Amino acid sequence: EKGGYDHFMLKEIFEQPKSIGDCLRGRLQAKEGKLVLGGIFDYVTKMVNAERILIIACGTSWHAGLVAEYIFEEFCRIPVEVEYASEFRYRNPIVNEKDVVIAISQSGETADTLAAIELAKSKGATIIGVCNVVGSSIARATHAGSYTHAGPEIGVASTKAFTAQISVLTMMALMIAEKKGSLSESKYRALLFELESVPDKVAKALLLNDQLEEIAKVFKDARNFLYLGRGFNFPVALEGALKLKEISYIHAEGYPAAEMKHGPIALIDEEMPVVVIATKDSSYEKIVSNVQEVKARKGKVIAVVSEGDTEIPKMADYVIEVPHISDALMPLIAVIPLQLLSYHIAVMRGCNVDQPRNLAKSVTVE
Ligand code: F6R
Repeated sequence: EKGGYDHFMLKEIFEQPKSIGDCLRGRLQAKEGKLVLGGIFDYVTKMVNAERILIIACGTSWHAGLVAEYIFEEFCRIPVEVEYASEFRYRNPIVNEKDVVIAISQSGETADTLAAIELAKSKGATIIGVCNVVGSSIARATHAGSYTHAGPEIGVASTKAFTAQISVLTMMALMIAEKKGSLSESKYRALLFELESVPDKVAKALLLNDQLEEIAKVFKDARNFLYLGRGFNFPVALEGALKLKEISYIHAEGYPAAEMKHGPIALIDEEMPVVVIATKDSSYEKIVSNVQEVKARKGKVIAVVSEGDTEIPKMADYVIEVPHISDALMPLIAVIPLQLLSYHIAVMRGCNVDQPRNLAKSVTVE
């Protein structure tokens, strides 16, 4: 059942080239320049004309929502707000029939997300679901949606569902952008081909497994971890930190790298591992300075960089090279080594990786 892997989590991490492929299959037609998301067909015009999009989710799904915020705003030029379902539902939110709400949930059973959907629906909003479990309560409560098709996720820590959620949300955003004309035809086409290359690049990133196991040996006894990223990679920092705390019980925080100087920099000393997602993109030069700030305070830098980078490797203690891809798609690649790092650390600490203490796969209570 675990397909030869020691844990479901590792199996699911390694399944990602396939689960992302399954998610894209039949929907992404790069050569034809087409994206077909049948489940939202009747709602595309509504989404194209939306004055704003609200994204509602919890946990890892909320992180996928944050990535989507950057992608929708960049390509569709529609303002996006990403909300924790639990906060949204209890604060008399401003929402009306002009709003499009995207609800993201792996299980489709998360109580807070379901209640937030019912609330937004009662105020007339259009609800689009992004769920993994077919026929789940959230899938049934939405007006329309696209399944992630990642297959059953057994490990409590979400991995392949996260990358499938981002894949679906990226397809939605590109489809809307193309219809809206907010993205040039050439950029749209180039992104479709890049999206098509994601499963192969994820497979390449998985070859880093042994290297991450070695890094895990060095840091398995750390008491704290900091994760930093900027732009599209900021939510990846949050997700990397969540994965580590969930399954290894090491305290970890994710931050936008530039926020470090507003507080968390005080934590940095020679004992502090700092994972920096520093791939080549528009904020690369900025993140180089952030790495220098960490090194000046003797923090231990574990950097995720684009293949062939020469600058960061001069400063970082450990360098993890991932295949290069456009900014907007990098979260799908950059998260892979972070999933593997948390997995190996948790195993080395003797933790129950697939069923961490105090956590349940579906949070059906508020
Ligand atoms: C993270 C994790 C949780 C879930 C959250 C939402 O690894 O498992 O944070 O992401 O409980 O669950 P869904 O997506 O089922 O609504």
